[in-house]
Amino acid sequence: MNFALQSALHVAVIMDGNGRWATLRGLPRMAGHQAGSEALRRAVEAAPDLGVTALTAYAFSCDNWKRPAEEVDAIMALLGWYLRDEIPRMLADRVRLSVIGRRDRLPDSLVGVIDEAEAATRGCNRLHLRLAIDYSARESILTATGLCGGGTNVTPERFEQTLAATHRGGPQPVDLLIRTGGEQRLSDFLLWECAYAELVFIRRMWPDFGGSDLAKAVTEFRRRERRFGDVPAPPIPVPVLGQERWLH
Ligand code: IPE
Ligand code: IPE
Ligand code: MG
Repeated sequence: MNFALQSALHVAVIMDGNGRWATLRGLPRMAGHQAGSEALRRAVEAAPDLGVTALTAYAFSCDNWKRPAEEVDAIMALLGWYLRDEIPRMLADRVRLSVIGRRDRLPDSLVGVIDEAEAATRGCNRLHLRLAIDYSARESILTATGLCGGGTNVTPERFEQTLAATHRGGPQPVDLLIRTGGEQRLSDFLLWECAYAELVFIRRMWPDFGGSDLAKAVTEFRRRERRFGDVPAPPIPVPVLGQERWLH
């Protein structure tokens, strides 16, 4: 199937299971995060040919600051190395990078690399990679609500524009949300944008995730019927050699 000819997709991924992947192998958790960064590279590489035009990946949540300082520091360092290493590849593959989430608590060096990567890739348009770092959906929604000034005259459009501003370039509705690692929860990720997302939960840990897993999830998504509250679409009659067949 030529996925690229199908409609543009916004896929969101909760890249979970790095720690367990490492622990199962007798490795420090950080080895799982390192292997997880390679899985993200594979997903970015596979996405455009599957018709994915935007990929939002959850790298670090506001709640992840609760983790031990050594793990947090190591993740921050890894994110900086990852972004710096990826700039040439993103340019070659025409991947535009944006980072959503708070920046005021990130190390200055990481903020510098984020600015650099965003500026360098601004003109790229094959895939929009949005990395969520120090991100909380509830916090974004609260901030946007405050900026809208409350009241009953806030339209969904105005609210979405304000939420987009708090996100730097979103929110786009999510079509397909994938979570690896076996847990079946959203963990404060894109709560507004996932209102009608199709959810796919995968037992495989994130470091083992590859292009074929993304392809399977997209195939599963294409099989589903999205109704957005409406009734099912009527079947389309297709005449075949004098008989009638029904296509859904
Ligand atoms: C996801 O993997 C990465 C981050 C949250 C930074 P985890 O580190 O949560 O891995 P598990 O869930 O403990 O296995
Ligand atoms: C969600 O995973 C955050 C990221 C993948 C970055 P967590 O591992 O932090 O989520 P919980 O604690 O299992 O809900
Ligand atoms: Mg986890």
